[in-house]
Amino acid sequence: MPVIEINNLSYVYNAGTLNEKRALDNITLSVEKGEFLGIVGANGSGKSTLIQHFNGLLLPSSGSIFVLGHDTRDKQYRSQLWKSVGLVFQFPEQQIFEATVYDELAYGLRNIGLGQPEIEVRVKEALENVGLIPEEQFLNTEPLCLSGGMRRRIAIASILAMKPDILVLDEPTAGLDPEGYAHILDTIKRCRKNQDVTVVMVSHYINDLLILSDRLVLLDDGCLQIWGPTREVLASADVKDYDLLFPDYIKLLHNLKKQGFQVNTGVLTLEEAVDEIDRLLEGE
Ligand SMILES: Nc1ncnc2c1ncn2[C@@H]1O[C@H](COP(=O)(O)OP(=O)(O)OP(=O)(O)O)[C@@H](O)[C@H]1O
Ligand SMILES: [Mg+2]
Repeated sequence: MPVIEINNLSYVYNAGTLNEKRALDNITLSVEKGEFLGIVGANGSGKSTLIQHFNGLLLPSSGSIFVLGHDTRDKQYRSQLWKSVGLVFQFPEQQIFEATVYDELAYGLRNIGLGQPEIEVRVKEALENVGLIPEEQFLNTEPLCLSGGMRRRIAIASILAMKPDILVLDEPTAGLDPEGYAHILDTIKRCRKNQDVTVVMVSHYINDLLILSDRLVLLDDGCLQIWGPTREVLASADVKDYDLLFPDYIKLLHNLKKQGFQVNTGVLTLEEAVDEIDRLLEGE
């Protein structure tokens, strides 16, 4: 059963003014329970606008979106929606405001009325989930003293601590140094293994999503270009149109195919591309 159902969703910023901008145009797609959905697209293609509909932060200009069976326009359901959908914004470390790591993670948990013992368990679990050791000294550290990568892991942990049914990540690896990048990707891989959580991840670098996503959505100027199992999207996408998004090895295979070689363009990794080219050379 889909946990998110989007039907003919359009969203217009500043409707009726000179600055009117149709950011989403007639999007229809669904997200299944436990799947990892990747959303990719160039700058300004509507990725952030789309995912902000998942927790009701934005409401459709037209069309509808149902999350866990409820229309996001249903006001009675709004507070439940905030608990069910954990949205990690781009550069979440900029929104850290509590004085200690512990308080940052406990903030949301206190708000939903959990007792102290449960809060302590959840804070520790969430920090372990992002690969951090919840020692006393660390829990009392001021987040501002930590590196950007560490703060981002804490921001993600604060959402994980809420145990959302659906975790939505907007460009979680953007702008990180290589070490921070590796840690965040590890965290996401760990979430990926937990089949109880549905994960939606936005990136304008497709490489991040190739190994993780069950299905991939390709947005272009607010329109849904392609949507389907990751391999199928890669095999069928017109690489010329998405030149900046695709890694070189995928572009190479598509070019070979255009030149008439019998090559499988539905590869995900560099290793698979090398195998495919080896196979081609052996056949010559
Ligand atoms: N608050 C806003 N007011 C007016 N227009 C907006 C607003 N937010 C976004 N837009 C416009 O809507 C379109 C989609 O923006 P959105 O931020 O959803 O794209 P994106 O794919 O997330 O881009 P990026 O990769 O840069 O994060 C863009 O043309 C953008 O300029
Ligand atoms: Mg964005």
